[in-house]
Amino acid sequence: MQDRAALLRLLEWQTAMGADDAVLNAPRDRMRTEAKSAERPRRVTPPAAPVTQAPAPVATAPQSAMLAGAKELADAATDLPALRAAVESFDGCSLRRTATHTVFADGNPEAPLMLIGEAPGADEDRIGLPFVGRSGQLLDRMLATIGVRRSENAYITNILFWRPPGNRKPTPEETAICLPFVWRHIALKRPKIVVLCGGTATAALLNRSDGITRLRGRWFDLLIPDLGSVPALATYHPSFLLRAPAHKSESWHDLLAIQNRLNSAQ
Ligand code: URA
Repeated sequence: MQDRAALLRLLEWQTAMGADDAVLNAPRDRMRTEAKSAERPRRVTPPAAPVTQAPAPVATAPQSAMLAGAKELADAATDLPALRAAVESFDGCSLRRTATHTVFADGNPEAPLMLIGEAPGADEDRIGLPFVGRSGQLLDRMLATIGVRRSENAYITNILFWRPPGNRKPTPEETAICLPFVWRHIALKRPKIVVLCGGTATAALLNRSDGITRLRGRWFDLLIPDLGSVPALATYHPSFLLRAPAHKSESWHDLLAIQNRLNSAQ
Protein backbone atom coordinates (compact mmCIF):
# COMPACT_ATOMS: atom_id res chain seq x y z
CA MET A 1 0.00 0.00 0.00
CA GLN A 2 2.86 2.29 0.87
CA ASP A 3 4.46 1.46 -2.49
CA ARG A 4 1.27 2.48 -4.23
CA ALA A 5 1.19 5.82 -2.41
CA ALA A 6 4.84 6.42 -3.30
CA LEU A 7 4.16 5.59 -6.95
CA LEU A 8 1.21 7.98 -6.99
CA ARG A 9 3.36 10.75 -5.51
CA LEU A 10 5.99 10.07 -8.20
CA LEU A 11 3.31 10.27 -10.90
CA GLU A 12 2.06 13.59 -9.49
CA TRP A 13 5.61 14.92 -9.49
CA GLN A 14 6.14 13.85 -13.10
CA THR A 15 2.89 15.53 -14.14
CA ALA A 16 3.92 18.71 -12.33
CA MET A 17 7.27 18.59 -14.20
CA GLY A 18 5.41 18.47 -17.50
CA ALA A 19 5.60 14.71 -18.22
CA ASP A 20 1.84 14.65 -18.65
CA ASP A 21 1.51 12.02 -21.31
CA ALA A 22 2.55 8.35 -21.74
CA VAL A 23 3.94 8.31 -25.26
CA LEU A 24 4.94 4.64 -25.33
CA ASN A 25 3.27 1.48 -24.06
CA ALA A 26 6.49 0.20 -22.52
CA PRO A 27 9.13 2.25 -20.67
CA ARG A 28 12.22 3.24 -22.68
CA ASP A 29 15.64 3.55 -21.08
CA ARG A 30 16.62 6.93 -22.50
CA MET A 31 20.10 6.70 -21.03
CA ARG A 32 20.78 3.66 -23.22
CA THR A 33 19.23 5.35 -26.26
CA GLU A 34 21.44 8.38 -25.68
CA ALA A 35 24.53 6.27 -25.23
CA LYS A 36 23.82 4.53 -28.52
CA SER A 37 23.21 7.77 -30.38
CA ALA A 38 26.45 9.19 -28.99
CA GLU A 39 28.28 6.33 -30.73
CA ARG A 40 26.80 7.32 -34.08
CA PRO A 41 29.08 9.50 -36.24
CA ARG A 42 28.10 13.16 -35.81
CA ARG A 43 27.71 15.45 -38.77
CA VAL A 44 30.02 18.30 -37.92
CA THR A 45 30.69 20.64 -40.78
CA PRO A 46 32.70 23.82 -41.18
CA PRO A 47 30.77 27.03 -40.43
CA ALA A 48 29.00 28.45 -43.46
CA ALA A 49 27.67 31.94 -44.16
CA PRO A 50 24.24 32.52 -42.57
CA VAL A 51 21.37 32.67 -45.05
CA THR A 52 18.53 33.83 -42.86
CA GLN A 53 17.31 37.31 -43.70
CA ALA A 54 17.82 38.19 -40.04
CA PRO A 55 21.03 38.08 -37.99
CA ALA A 56 21.45 34.71 -36.24
CA PRO A 57 21.29 34.81 -32.43
CA VAL A 58 24.64 34.94 -30.63
CA ALA A 59 25.77 31.33 -30.17
CA THR A 60 28.53 29.56 -28.26
CA ALA A 61 31.24 27.75 -30.26
CA PRO A 62 29.59 24.28 -30.09
CA GLN A 63 26.23 25.86 -30.91
CA SER A 64 27.76 27.67 -33.90
CA ALA A 65 29.16 24.38 -35.20
CA MET A 66 25.73 22.75 -34.74
CA LEU A 67 24.03 25.67 -36.50
CA ALA A 68 26.49 25.46 -39.37
CA GLY A 69 25.88 21.69 -39.54
CA ALA A 70 22.12 22.25 -39.62
CA LYS A 71 22.46 24.82 -42.38
CA GLU A 72 24.73 22.63 -44.46
CA LEU A 73 22.40 19.64 -44.10
CA ALA A 74 19.35 21.77 -44.95
CA ASP A 75 20.96 23.46 -47.95
CA ALA A 76 22.09 20.12 -49.39
CA ALA A 77 18.44 19.05 -49.72
CA THR A 78 17.17 19.66 -53.23
CA ASP A 79 13.53 18.62 -52.75
CA LEU A 80 11.01 18.15 -49.94
CA PRO A 81 11.54 14.38 -49.45
CA ALA A 82 15.30 15.02 -49.15
CA LEU A 83 14.67 17.79 -46.63
CA ARG A 84 12.39 15.52 -44.61
CA ALA A 85 15.12 12.86 -44.58
CA ALA A 86 17.67 15.51 -43.53
CA VAL A 87 15.51 16.65 -40.61
CA GLU A 88 14.90 13.04 -39.56
CA SER A 89 18.64 12.33 -39.58
CA PHE A 90 19.59 15.51 -37.71
CA ASP A 91 20.56 14.92 -34.09
CA GLY A 92 21.54 18.47 -33.13
CA CYS A 93 18.25 19.31 -31.40
CA SER A 94 17.89 17.79 -27.93
CA LEU A 95 14.08 17.73 -28.24
CA ARG A 96 14.48 14.82 -30.60
CA ARG A 97 15.52 12.59 -27.71
CA THR A 98 12.24 13.00 -25.82
CA ALA A 99 9.94 13.05 -28.84
CA THR A 100 8.21 9.99 -30.27
CA HIS A 101 8.02 11.26 -33.84
CA THR A 102 9.67 13.86 -36.03
CA VAL A 103 6.76 16.02 -37.21
CA PHE A 104 7.67 17.40 -40.63
CA ALA A 105 4.58 18.55 -42.53
CA ASP A 106 1.09 17.71 -43.71
CA GLY A 107 -1.04 18.75 -46.67
CA ASN A 108 -0.47 19.27 -50.35
CA PRO A 109 3.15 20.16 -51.27
CA GLU A 110 1.78 21.86 -54.43
CA ALA A 111 -0.59 24.13 -52.47
CA PRO A 112 -0.11 27.89 -52.81
CA LEU A 113 -0.63 28.39 -49.06
CA MET A 114 1.94 27.36 -46.43
CA LEU A 115 1.04 27.67 -42.74
CA ILE A 116 3.75 27.62 -40.08
CA GLY A 117 2.94 26.99 -36.42
CA GLU A 118 5.08 26.64 -33.31
CA ALA A 119 5.80 23.02 -32.37
CA PRO A 120 4.08 19.64 -32.18
CA GLY A 121 1.95 18.96 -29.10
CA ALA A 122 1.10 15.60 -27.54
CA ASP A 123 -1.30 14.50 -30.30
CA GLU A 124 1.06 15.58 -33.08
CA ASP A 125 3.97 13.80 -31.38
CA ARG A 126 1.93 10.60 -31.10
CA ILE A 127 0.69 10.67 -34.70
CA GLY A 128 3.63 12.33 -36.46
CA LEU A 129 1.61 15.04 -38.23
CA PRO A 130 1.26 18.76 -37.43
CA PHE A 131 -1.95 20.33 -36.13
CA VAL A 132 -4.01 17.19 -35.53
CA GLY A 133 -5.10 17.99 -31.95
CA ARG A 134 -7.73 20.46 -30.75
CA SER A 135 -6.00 23.53 -32.13
CA GLY A 136 -5.46 21.77 -35.47
CA GLN A 137 -9.14 20.89 -35.65
CA LEU A 138 -10.01 24.55 -35.06
CA LEU A 139 -7.48 25.55 -37.74
CA ASP A 140 -9.11 23.13 -40.21
CA ARG A 141 -12.56 24.57 -39.46
CA MET A 142 -11.29 28.13 -39.87
CA LEU A 143 -9.61 27.33 -43.19
CA ALA A 144 -12.74 25.54 -44.43
CA THR A 145 -14.69 28.83 -44.14
CA ILE A 146 -12.52 30.24 -46.97
CA GLY A 147 -12.56 27.02 -49.00
CA VAL A 148 -9.13 25.79 -47.91
CA ARG A 149 -8.54 22.12 -47.04
CA ARG A 150 -5.16 20.74 -46.06
CA SER A 151 -5.48 17.70 -48.34
CA GLU A 152 -6.13 19.99 -51.31
CA ASN A 153 -4.83 23.53 -51.09
CA ALA A 154 -2.82 23.97 -47.89
CA TYR A 155 0.53 22.78 -46.59
CA ILE A 156 1.22 22.89 -42.84
CA THR A 157 4.40 22.72 -40.80
CA ASN A 158 5.98 24.12 -37.63
CA ILE A 159 9.10 26.01 -36.57
CA LEU A 160 10.10 22.99 -34.44
CA PHE A 161 9.98 19.42 -35.68
CA TRP A 162 9.88 17.83 -32.21
CA ARG A 163 7.57 18.28 -29.25
CA PRO A 164 8.96 20.28 -26.32
CA PRO A 165 8.25 18.17 -23.19
CA GLY A 166 5.03 19.19 -21.46
CA ASN A 167 4.29 21.58 -24.37
CA ARG A 168 6.59 24.22 -22.87
CA LYS A 169 7.69 27.18 -24.98
CA PRO A 170 10.67 26.33 -27.19
CA THR A 171 13.96 27.88 -26.07
CA PRO A 172 15.77 30.34 -28.39
CA GLU A 173 18.46 27.68 -28.96
CA GLU A 174 15.90 25.05 -29.99
CA THR A 175 14.27 27.51 -32.36
CA ALA A 176 17.60 28.64 -33.83
CA ILE A 177 18.79 25.10 -34.58
CA CYS A 178 15.57 24.28 -36.46
CA LEU A 179 15.44 27.55 -38.43
CA PRO A 180 17.86 26.61 -41.26
CA PHE A 181 15.51 23.70 -42.05
CA VAL A 182 12.47 26.00 -41.94
CA TRP A 183 14.01 28.52 -44.37
CA ARG A 184 14.95 25.67 -46.70
CA HIS A 185 11.46 24.20 -46.27
CA ILE A 186 9.93 27.43 -47.57
CA ALA A 187 12.45 27.64 -50.42
CA LEU A 188 11.72 24.09 -51.60
CA LYS A 189 7.98 24.29 -51.05
CA ARG A 190 7.75 27.56 -53.06
CA PRO A 191 4.47 28.84 -51.58
CA LYS A 192 2.66 31.89 -52.97
CA ILE A 193 1.69 32.91 -49.44
CA VAL A 194 2.97 32.07 -45.95
CA VAL A 195 0.81 32.35 -42.84
CA LEU A 196 2.67 32.63 -39.54
CA CYS A 197 0.45 31.12 -36.83
CA GLY A 198 1.26 32.66 -33.47
CA GLY A 199 4.03 34.54 -31.76
CA THR A 200 6.77 31.91 -32.01
CA ALA A 201 6.59 31.50 -35.79
CA THR A 202 6.20 35.25 -36.27
CA ALA A 203 9.13 36.19 -34.03
CA ALA A 204 11.37 33.46 -35.47
CA LEU A 205 10.84 34.25 -39.14
CA LEU A 206 10.47 38.02 -38.93
CA ASN A 207 13.10 38.36 -36.20
CA ARG A 208 10.91 40.88 -34.42
CA SER A 209 10.38 41.18 -30.73
CA ASP A 210 7.00 43.00 -30.88
CA GLY A 211 4.27 40.65 -29.66
CA ILE A 212 1.78 38.90 -31.93
CA THR A 213 -1.04 41.29 -30.88
CA ARG A 214 0.93 44.15 -32.49
CA LEU A 215 1.93 42.20 -35.61
CA ARG A 216 -1.21 40.18 -36.39
CA GLY A 217 -3.15 41.18 -39.47
CA ARG A 218 -0.03 42.63 -41.11
CA TRP A 219 1.74 41.39 -44.21
CA PHE A 220 5.52 41.15 -44.39
CA ASP A 221 7.93 40.16 -47.14
CA LEU A 222 9.96 37.07 -46.32
CA LEU A 223 13.20 37.06 -48.27
CA ILE A 224 13.79 33.39 -49.02
CA PRO A 225 17.22 32.29 -50.29
CA ASP A 226 16.93 30.67 -53.76
CA LEU A 227 13.31 31.77 -54.05
CA GLY A 228 12.89 35.51 -53.50
CA SER A 229 10.26 37.50 -51.70
CA VAL A 230 7.15 35.74 -50.37
CA PRO A 231 4.28 37.61 -48.66
CA ALA A 232 3.68 36.42 -45.09
CA LEU A 233 0.74 37.22 -42.84
CA ALA A 234 1.09 37.12 -39.06
CA THR A 235 -2.00 35.78 -37.29
CA TYR A 236 -3.08 34.38 -33.95
CA HIS A 237 -2.30 30.78 -33.11
CA PRO A 238 -5.46 28.62 -32.99
CA SER A 239 -4.59 27.45 -29.46
CA PHE A 240 -4.72 31.12 -28.37
CA LEU A 241 -8.17 31.36 -29.96
CA LEU A 242 -9.28 28.28 -28.00
CA ARG A 243 -8.28 30.11 -24.81
CA ALA A 244 -9.50 33.54 -25.90
CA PRO A 245 -12.39 33.05 -28.36
CA ALA A 246 -13.24 36.78 -28.29
CA HIS A 247 -10.26 37.29 -30.62
CA LYS A 248 -11.80 35.08 -33.32
CA SER A 249 -13.27 38.17 -35.03
CA GLU A 250 -9.74 39.47 -35.72
CA SER A 251 -8.77 36.08 -37.11
CA TRP A 252 -11.81 36.23 -39.36
CA HIS A 253 -10.37 39.41 -40.91
CA ASP A 254 -7.07 37.58 -41.39
CA LEU A 255 -8.85 34.67 -43.08
CA LEU A 256 -10.52 37.06 -45.52
CA ALA A 257 -7.16 38.71 -46.22
CA ILE A 258 -5.68 35.26 -46.96
CA GLN A 259 -8.60 34.46 -49.27
CA ASN A 260 -8.12 37.75 -51.16
CA ARG A 261 -4.40 37.14 -51.62
CA LEU A 262 -5.00 33.56 -52.75
CA ASN A 263 -7.55 34.76 -55.31
CA SER A 264 -5.21 37.40 -56.69
CA ALA A 265 -2.25 34.97 -56.70
CA GLN A 266 -4.06 32.58 -59.09
N1 URA B 1 0.49 23.73 -32.15
C1 URA B 1 1.39 24.02 -33.11
O1 URA B 1 1.93 25.12 -33.17
N2 URA B 1 1.67 23.08 -34.00
C2 URA B 1 1.10 21.90 -33.99
O2 URA B 1 1.43 21.10 -34.85
C3 URA B 1 0.14 21.62 -33.00
C4 URA B 1 -0.15 22.55 -32.09
